[in-house]
Amino acid sequence: MAKKKTQLRESTRKQLDKAATRVMKNAHAPYSNFHVGSAILLTNGKIFVGCNVENASYGMTNCAERTAIFSAVAALGPKIQIAAVAVTNDHGVACSPCGACRQVIYEFGPDATIYFQSSDGPKQAHITELLPEGFRLK
Ligand code: THU
Repeated sequence: MAKKKTQLRESTRKQLDKAATRVMKNAHAPYSNFHVGSAILLTNGKIFVGCNVENASYGMTNCAERTAIFSAVAALGPKIQIAAVAVTNDHGVACSPCGACRQVIYEFGPDATIYFQSSDGPKQAHITELLPEGFRLK
């Protein structure tokens, strides 16, 4: 059964989008020229941001979403709980979190709501809609 989606207040969602757009400008993306920003809202109300950081060895690239999550863990420790994730890009094109980021979001936010640009415009989805059967080690 589909999970009930967390409804963020409009003002909170806008705040997340703004934070994601602001940090997008810090992206290091000389190879793809595709700048991405992400902001995550924790269940304690705190917001962390991240941008994509590419590398000449392309596979070492870190997506914006994972940068934000890893910053939150570095600042607050591994008990963080992600309530929501917003993603923006500077091409105004569809861009949902990649498979690797979905699994990382799931680790810290099995009930997270994801806000992203779809081919049909802005969209929100529960993490388990984007990542059915996410992996957990328990
Ligand atoms: N990218 C992200 O940062 N987040 C996404 O959700 C999709 C892709 C980055 C990785 C790479 O630096 C660039 O976008 C092109 O794939």
